[in-house]
Amino acid sequence: MLKKCIAVAAIFFAAAAVNAQEKPVYLDDSKPLNLRVEDALQRMTLEEKIAFIHAQSKFSAPGVPRLGIPEVWTTDGPHGIRPEVKWDEWDQAGWTNDRCTAFPALTCLAATWNKDMSSLYGKSIGEEARFRNKNILLGPGVNIYRSPLNGRNFEYMGEDPFLAGQMVVPYIKGVQSNGVAACVKHFALNNQETNRNTVNVVVDDRALYEIYLPAFKAAVQQGGAWSIMGSYNKYKGQQNCHNQYLLNDILKGEWGFEGVVVSDWGGVHDGMQPIFNGLDLEFGTWTDGLNTGNTNAYDNYYLAKPYLDKIKSGKVGTKELDDKVRRVLRLCFLTTLDRNRPYGSFATPEHALAGRKIAEEGIVLLQNNNNLLPIDLNKTKRIAVIGENAIKAMTVGGGSSSLKANYEVSPLDGIKNIVGNKAEVVYARGYVGDPNSNYNGVVFGADLTEKRPAEELLAEAVKLAKSADIVIFVGGLNKSPYQDDEGYDRKEYALPYNQDKVVSELAKANKNLVFVNISGNAVAMPWVKQVPAIVQGWYLGTETGNALARVLVGDVNPSGKLPFTFPVSLADNPAKAVGEFPGGDEVHYTEGIFVGYRYADKQNIKPLFPFGHGLSYTSFSYGKVSVDKSKVNADDKVTFSVKVKNTGKRDGAEIVQLYISDLKSSLTRPVKELKGFEKVYLKAGEEKTVSITVDKEALSYFDDKKHAWVAEPGDFEAIIGASSADVKNKVKFTLK
Ligand code: BGC
Repeated sequence: MLKKCIAVAAIFFAAAAVNAQEKPVYLDDSKPLNLRVEDALQRMTLEEKIAFIHAQSKFSAPGVPRLGIPEVWTTDGPHGIRPEVKWDEWDQAGWTNDRCTAFPALTCLAATWNKDMSSLYGKSIGEEARFRNKNILLGPGVNIYRSPLNGRNFEYMGEDPFLAGQMVVPYIKGVQSNGVAACVKHFALNNQETNRNTVNVVVDDRALYEIYLPAFKAAVQQGGAWSIMGSYNKYKGQQNCHNQYLLNDILKGEWGFEGVVVSDWGGVHDGMQPIFNGLDLEFGTWTDGLNTGNTNAYDNYYLAKPYLDKIKSGKVGTKELDDKVRRVLRLCFLTTLDRNRPYGSFATPEHALAGRKIAEEGIVLLQNNNNLLPIDLNKTKRIAVIGENAIKAMTVGGGSSSLKANYEVSPLDGIKNIVGNKAEVVYARGYVGDPNSNYNGVVFGADLTEKRPAEELLAEAVKLAKSADIVIFVGGLNKSPYQDDEGYDRKEYALPYNQDKVVSELAKANKNLVFVNISGNAVAMPWVKQVPAIVQGWYLGTETGNALARVLVGDVNPSGKLPFTFPVSLADNPAKAVGEFPGGDEVHYTEGIFVGYRYADKQNIKPLFPFGHGLSYTSFSYGKVSVDKSKVNADDKVTFSVKVKNTGKRDGAEIVQLYISDLKSSLTRPVKELKGFEKVYLKAGEEKTVSITVDKEALSYFDDKKHAWVAEPGDFEAIIGASSADVKNKVKFTLK
């Protein structure tokens, strides 16, 4: 506390002193940014520079008090603003004003396929960060969905580099419009949690450039991200938080990144490499980001006294130091020192509504046989809701993205609210998963302790199911270890806690069964033929129950589509079938570029649910796709157009997907790759023309021999699909 008061007083006096004289260049916002950076830099002492580039607490760095440059405050990310922890410990600070809006998980955002939703998300969460005086938001995450076992997939945007790249850009711009830096994570190849601090990823250059890097590149070049977080793992045997290839050669070299490379918490492991290999700001050393800590270790950080000593003894120069300081200064000028940035707002009804809207657009209707959904409340007298996830709080747990939400509407409450007195809603647990509803000292939700044996719970659920007109089973995964949880991968693809048995028994008891899967990952569904309706319900945040209920009763017509493939079994997942997951000290991505639908296409595998799949309560018909020129030059843009009609009785939205297929090429290419999409809203009976324009980037592959992107002349096909497996029609064109 005393430390803080001194810092605040110092800032005050520094500002006053500065006011008395002529305004220095660095504080004059009419001056260009680079001049201000250089001016501030040359005023700083060596000690101030060193202090500026490493943490002073779990989540903050000190700024430059003498010059009136405020502290840097980071926060998780990416689904809401993390509750305050103590200065030097991971324990809760116990503040009463840090209950945030919990936004839907990023898998749900990706499932909206709607850039406006991404922009709304970024703007809203940025406002929350700003209000809480944070200037770096630790998110969004864009690591590619390689295996359904990765415990952190829920924090990312799916398996396709183009979709993730398109969706990450508006999020970043939205956050940064508040004068808060987005910190895109985890760069790069962090696709599993097992051995996450040590595993060395072995991947070929094509897969690296075509699959694992494009979303980060879009974040940097199109999104203009002001910071990026290195990942825990290794690439080419070097830790990624100080990785020459990833940080210097690619990020800062090839892509021209001008922002700050932030270490992941505890991701720095070496004295020399961080100086030279592109790291700018060191956080969380000697912690795993969650619980272990080394009190007041900050002076011993690699970029603290050890670095200072090296400079003083002449072992290393100051060129690298100045580059790091310049980058952090630039970030400060764009955030805390931007006098025009807005003030932000926190846990407001507007943000809850934004979260609900995103949730409603991201929920995916996977299956709807006999049009079981939406529930017709005029004909339904009794609804049985079964399953632990109908009552379990999900905004807590899962690791660093765990939140202290201002409130969370459970699926059961959401259904009860919307049904009102139109029907009776009855509930049974059906099984016990994890009764915990707390994480790292944040206790949220009811005590779910249950002593009755499994058979009794199942019998109760079956009895209830038999008595109801319709049964809604709300199950799936949760945020506990070995589920959707940072630090752990899932142990199996099957649903946990004996849910398959419960679902099968419920299907026998009542043919009107809806399965709502709460998860950020695909799961096996051996009972898929017995369950007429299946809904992918993600983790939806504060407004979970309301969003789900509005979809279930048809107040909202579902319009989300899957951002990743649901394989039937793990044997159909390339990371398992061809590559390795999770590997040992090394993990080999032997499947190369054939990730997700690229693998299913290649092997002619029919997934349980394909990438891009999602149903609606209405139906759509597609016209013929046309192309504006059938022969294109390398510098041309080419536009494909298709008429889409809502042929049903409800208003709805369809996501039109454009895949490009290279009919003949020197290097093996995927059968097709997503290169454009458009979500189109259509009133019942309405028809619109959807046009999607691409350039040569969409036709290119990464030639690893030439180390360059190549668009090879020849014939291509543009494929219009309602999913990766539901091709509507195609048109050929030629690159001259
Ligand atoms: C996670 C990051 C997170 C950081 C700070 C780490 O363990 O990997 O995603 O931002 O902790 O909480």
